[in-house]
Amino acid sequence: MIPLIFLASLLALPVDTFGAPTDIVPVSGQTISLVRRNQAPRDVTEWGTLAKSQRNNLLAKYGSPKAQKRSTGYNLIVDQLYDSSYYGSLAIGTPAMSFNVILDTGSSDLWVASSSCGSSCGTSATYNPSSSSTFQNLSTSFDIVYGSGSAAGYVAQDTVQMAGFSVSSQGFAVVDEVSTGMLTSPVSGLLGLAWQSIASSGQMPLWQTLASSNSWDSALFAVQLTRYTNDTTAQDLEPGGVLNMGYTNSSLYTGSIDYIDIPGTPSYWYIPLTSLTVQGSSISITSGTTAAIDTGTTNIAGPASSVAAIYAQIPNSQPATGEWEGYYSFPCSTTVNVELSFGGATWSISPADFSFAQTSSTECIGAFFEASTGTGSPSWIIGDAFLKNVYSVFRYNPASIGFANLSSVAIAENGAGGTVPSATIGVVSAAVTNTSDAPRTHVLSASLSTLLFLAFSAVLLL
Ligand SMILES: *[C@@H]1O[C@H](CO)[C@@H](O)[C@H](O)[C@H]1NC(C)=O
Ligand SMILES: *[C@@H]1O[C@H](CO)[C@@H](O)[C@H](O)[C@H]1NC(C)=O
Ligand SMILES: *[C@@H]1O[C@H](CO)[C@@H](O)[C@H](O)[C@H]1NC(C)=O
Ligand SMILES: *[C@@H]1O[C@H](CO)[C@@H](O)[C@H](O)[C@H]1NC(C)=O
Ligand SMILES: *[C@@H]1O[C@H](CO)[C@@H](O)[C@H](O)[C@H]1NC(C)=O
Repeated sequence: MIPLIFLASLLALPVDTFGAPTDIVPVSGQTISLVRRNQAPRDVTEWGTLAKSQRNNLLAKYGSPKAQKRSTGYNLIVDQLYDSSYYGSLAIGTPAMSFNVILDTGSSDLWVASSSCGSSCGTSATYNPSSSSTFQNLSTSFDIVYGSGSAAGYVAQDTVQMAGFSVSSQGFAVVDEVSTGMLTSPVSGLLGLAWQSIASSGQMPLWQTLASSNSWDSALFAVQLTRYTNDTTAQDLEPGGVLNMGYTNSSLYTGSIDYIDIPGTPSYWYIPLTSLTVQGSSISITSGTTAAIDTGTTNIAGPASSVAAIYAQIPNSQPATGEWEGYYSFPCSTTVNVELSFGGATWSISPADFSFAQTSSTECIGAFFEASTGTGSPSWIIGDAFLKNVYSVFRYNPASIGFANLSSVAIAENGAGGTVPSATIGVVSAAVTNTSDAPRTHVLSASLSTLLFLAFSAVLLL
């Protein structure tokens, strides 16, 4: 979901992207932690470069290939309501309580419904600050408005665990007001997976804390999303794919990952949109057009003129009306093939994903709809209707987005049914902890972190 942010508030953000100190510990419970100081170099890239050279020096000195290994983890995703949304799970607090959260690469705040939220938060699990011994109230107000609704509350910090990683003092928002329709049980909130510069809370997103602290083997996360939209036997909740943290899973894609750099300061995950064809005909795209890659949006939004040009290639399509305003209808009997390119390879959207809904025996609604985004924001929002067709990688440094073709193993998961995953907060860490060499790896990477911190402090004192 793309938050509606005014450019002015973006510009008003402090240049120093580091907030309060944050500790990261492996979930296995070792006591070592990486501590960041309030004073920090001016930007993430600088810190990343510094961190890398320190790490390389240490590796050269101790010569341990094991030390290069940090950690990876994964979180199983649930596909809710026939590809409408995709959620994962994380745990907050001490003792930890788990929550289902929409995985949203289109925004940057983590928020969960509070136990003091009334009926607007529905029947999902809620977070009770008074039951967590590690809760810290930052006492600033939190408000976010998405295209599809809003949430409000206050900003706090607590220990957050996900995919086998644990971050103490992770900033997030405790929400006591949510607009209707934002939370469908069993979802309790949303995990923003875009960059800190657009966080309404001002807090560094969980993924960015992990990536920037070198907690991951590779500073990236990747997503595979399943398709159930054309499966008439699909249940409300189905297995939704996976969020890989710190690695890419080569069983889920074929060929190489085609990376395209973010053409400016990272905020949304956005890249140029360079070509779009419908039924083999090109739609003209203004040079410099950018697209946000957004797991939190079901469909694909673009400027009105381009969307009209898309449907102009589909005989007997027309603007839809009433509650479907902004969408178009087209004959369900037409198989629509759309291809997109972001400057590298070309990717197809399956006809099944193009056909978003059926409104009569002959009329379908297409996945592309009109939306005008604000000045300075990407003019296209590429959501799940596209992302189900590729393995998507979100890379921290250089900030870029990669796509690859899905493997036959990943494709076979579409419509396959099976057990809906339950909360998978520490799966990998548990497995890693219980192998003979894993503790050594953790201790090594942890002591590297500690050394890194000491070296880093020394640099700051100069
Ligand atoms: C946290 O601070 C906010 C703003 O001051 C306040 O409204 C809220 O009740 C506080 N929460 C708790 C659990 O103390
Ligand atoms: C759903 O669509 C995909 C891609 O177009 C196709 O491969 C699959 O067979 C379809 N499934 C059903 C149940 O129609
Ligand atoms: C990679 O994906 C395959 C297919 O889903 C799965 O069986 C395997 O466990 C995954 N491996 C990792 C390390 O995530
Ligand atoms: C992806 O798969 C399609 C269809 O098999 C193929 O034409 C295309 O070259 C592949 N793209 C990449 C980047 O491997
Ligand atoms: C490791 O696994 C074994 C066998 O499942 C179990 O008995 C043991 O308690 C586990 N150890 C830890 C540290 O979890």
